[in-house]
Amino acid sequence: MDLFVRLTARAKDNTRRIVLPEGDETRNITAADNILADGLADIILLGKRHDIETKAEELGLRHISQATIVEPDDPAVLDKYAPLLYELRKKKGMTPEEARRKAADVLYLGALMVKAGDADGMVSGAIHSTGDVLRAAFQVIKTAPGIDTVSGAFLMLLPDHLPYGENGILVFADCAVVPEPDARQLAQIAVCTANTAKTVAGIDPRVAILSFSTKGSAKHERVDKVIEATRIAHEMDPDLQIDGELQTDAAIVPTVGALKAPGSEIAGKANVLVFPSLEVGNIAYKLVQRLAGVEAVGPLLQGLAAPVSDLSRGCSASDIYKTIVMTANQSIK
Ligand code: ACO
Repeated sequence: MDLFVRLTARAKDNTRRIVLPEGDETRNITAADNILADGLADIILLGKRHDIETKAEELGLRHISQATIVEPDDPAVLDKYAPLLYELRKKKGMTPEEARRKAADVLYLGALMVKAGDADGMVSGAIHSTGDVLRAAFQVIKTAPGIDTVSGAFLMLLPDHLPYGENGILVFADCAVVPEPDARQLAQIAVCTANTAKTVAGIDPRVAILSFSTKGSAKHERVDKVIEATRIAHEMDPDLQIDGELQTDAAIVPTVGALKAPGSEIAGKANVLVFPSLEVGNIAYKLVQRLAGVEAVGPLLQGLAAPVSDLSRGCSASDIYKTIVMTANQSIK
């Protein structure tokens, strides 16, 4: 079944509450209206009620009245969320006054609503930078149990003629967050990406941690890091199907896998590719996207205690709509 058909049906059956901090922005309002019209999530828009309703009317949108609108400078809202932010950040030197100021920042307010259990996930980044969205999520929502490193995965939706992955999907990570992961962080990225592959892509993960070496063909400290990461990932999740270090061809091409890594359960069959650094992951997904005409869906942030999705600033209302559906799916246990 088409990925989005499946994810849309799942979102519809499990209504989640998604907060849009950039709730007074045209593309966000349009996406919210379409999501509400299709009954795919409950939407919380942050922004001035008057601005949101005026824009919705100008755009001829008829479903925004179903959204919950929260005004970030409403004293009652700040009374509720500023103390939570203060509790979370006082060890870092935040004062109650700073917490009240910061809680009125839409990114922090959205994250606080998720932290407080008033929303199930957050989608932002049509206006704000990746760094700003991530920092609010890291500082407020924090990481899932057993994880301290958030990373970003892409679902690569392959055209029919490419015989790789599973159900036409390869999952790539980290392509978005951690510039130079150490072995422990790389292991966490592998475990989280396997989980994303299972829960969002709906595939049975077979993870390869990639390198320029396959099973000792080269010696280098960067290869050692990948071998160590594979060992730690095994330790973290003994049931995880994972192998490393593997080169890309050994990971995804059965004949090459059999030749270079005989006996490996993963070689030639990997559907989750974990890159040894952000440079490689970010460059690789963009090359595959552009040169092979592959649709790249993401980044799906993974490892947070609750899902947050970062949009590209060039995104369309339809991109936001899809991202809301994905985020809702990530929050379904
Ligand atoms: N996972 C969990 N927590 C993290 C992570 C992480 N990966 N990185 C930082 N943190 C936490 C820190 O522990 C710290 O928490 P604290 O304040 O409670 O101590 C907080 O976040 C801020 O940490 P800093 O070290 O100050 O992080 P900084 O703000 O400098 O950078 C950032 C974090 C923005 C994510 C940085 O790693 C970054 O810029 N990464 C690259 C993002 C990017 O530009 N990606 C490419 C574009 S995206 C795309 O093309 C798809």
